[in-house]
Amino acid sequence: MRLSLLVFISVLSVNPCHSYTVLDNPWRSPDNRYPSQYKCDADVSWAGWYRFFIHGQNAQMPETCVDWKSCGTYIPMWLNGKHPTVEDGVVTRGVCGSHVYGCCLFPSKPIKVKACPGGYYVYEFLKPVSCLSYCAGQQILYSFGSNVADTNNPTADDGSSSVIQLLSPFHLFGRTYQQIYVNNNGHLTFNQSSSAYTPYSFPANRNQDIIAGLWTNLDNSARGFVSYNQYTSGNVLTRATQDINTHFPNLTFSASWVFVATWNKVAYYSLTNTETSFQVVLISGSNYSFILMNYGDIAVTGHPVEAGYDTINSTHYFVIPGSVNGSSISNLRNSSNVNVPGRWAFRVDSGQRNSILKNNVVGFQVRLSSFSDLTQSGNIEMVLQQIKQELVKYGLPNSIELQLRKLQNIKP
Ligand SMILES: *[C@@H]1O[C@H](CO)[C@@H](O)[C@H](O)[C@H]1NC(C)=O
Ligand SMILES: *[C@@H]1O[C@H](CO)[C@@H](O)[C@H](O)[C@H]1NC(C)=O
Ligand SMILES: *[C@@H]1O[C@H](CO)[C@@H](O)[C@H](O)[C@H]1NC(C)=O
Ligand SMILES: *[C@@H]1O[C@H](CO)[C@@H](O)[C@H](O)[C@H]1NC(C)=O
Ligand SMILES: *[C@@H]1O[C@H](CO)[C@@H](O)[C@H](O)[C@H]1NC(C)=O
Ligand SMILES: *[C@@H]1O[C@H](CO)[C@@H](O)[C@H](O)[C@H]1NC(C)=O
Repeated sequence: MRLSLLVFISVLSVNPCHSYTVLDNPWRSPDNRYPSQYKCDADVSWAGWYRFFIHGQNAQMPETCVDWKSCGTYIPMWLNGKHPTVEDGVVTRGVCGSHVYGCCLFPSKPIKVKACPGGYYVYEFLKPVSCLSYCAGQQILYSFGSNVADTNNPTADDGSSSVIQLLSPFHLFGRTYQQIYVNNNGHLTFNQSSSAYTPYSFPANRNQDIIAGLWTNLDNSARGFVSYNQYTSGNVLTRATQDINTHFPNLTFSASWVFVATWNKVAYYSLTNTETSFQVVLISGSNYSFILMNYGDIAVTGHPVEAGYDTINSTHYFVIPGSVNGSSISNLRNSSNVNVPGRWAFRVDSGQRNSILKNNVVGFQVRLSSFSDLTQSGNIEMVLQQIKQELVKYGLPNSIELQLRKLQNIKP
């Protein structure tokens, strides 16, 4: 006897912005280089949509090439294209595997990506072709723009905001400010606005406190936006509290006020097709004050540049290393004093000096004899790993990184 069946299928349309699996895997960070154990996403049974976090903070796939042997894996995967906007809906994007032989090898099947109204992304991941892993980096920039009702600066070359009254006074090395100006040329000043487009070198022993995210000849009348906002409640304070406690452990800090100034895709003067994005964030709570500088894409420029801060009589100042040369200024995106590429963080309430705490670089020479030709690529990698293990045995942290500067054949 033949049975006839009628099968009812209901199609549920699930919104991936509300229905996703959380992946809070700090090992996926691009900072996790030369991991002791290489992870492999081919071992995972992927199903449905995923959202990245790193230590509870929003994270997303990098849109540019990451280093081979980073993101906790041998061949990390990055997104080959821009993330969509909320309006774009679900989009399809290619995925590249980064290897020593090229940035976009092992192309995997394209994945689906969606931007969600809360300011995060969800991904429909697929099993990679071989032992690769998806990379997840942190969003460096704080929310800005019309989404969070920023106030826009006038579009005017060398222009400034009008005076901004601070909702909470800002303590800067012993001085207290109730007001601030956001200047289009990449800096913040307190007592008066500034149209200066050519930076002076810090320390300058001037009669001015200045905080320079990137002081150079920027022109928001040609391209981009300069905007600002301040907060005394909401999730911006939560994020600032988390960031400061991560960057400055043991203070048990709690943010009560945050000021965010953003230069979004602003052109350099007369170079109207350049786009440079960065932020200066002022944070305070109890008696503490901090400055965060967050760097997005920074175009190279022939204009003079300077990033850091300088105070009256230069009693305190800081120049971000490499920030005074416009041809290497893009490196602001991947340098840091707090181990978060693109982020520089300073405590500015007290008399303490800021220094490059975690970016110490020392050099040394080693004389080796070997049966294999160490100048052949790949061979020296193993030797560096062995040297590193020795150094770690002698008490250096496992996070140290050895980079080869030069290799020279010598007479035995
Ligand atoms: C700037 O303002 C501070 C605080 O109000 C004040 O002490 C200082 O004299 C002012 N400096 C200049 C150069 O006007
Ligand atoms: C923070 O406190 C812990 C435990 O008391 C200590 O081991 C660590 O060295 C401190 N860190 C800093 C940066 O002071
Ligand atoms: C803030 O500073 C004042 C005066 O220097 C001090 O009395 C007070 O204990 C400090 N408060 C905190 C929370 O550190
Ligand atoms: C800066 O230096 C000048 C000249 O030495 C001095 O008169 C002035 O008081 C100093 N300003 C501050 C805020 O220390
Ligand atoms: C700026 O950087 C470029 C490339 O890194 C280098 O060739 C040049 O010498 C540097 N100029 C200065 C003044 O440091
Ligand atoms: C930083 O990024 C720039 C541009 O992407 C790159 O040329 C440079 O080599 C990077 N520097 C480091 C130290 O990774």
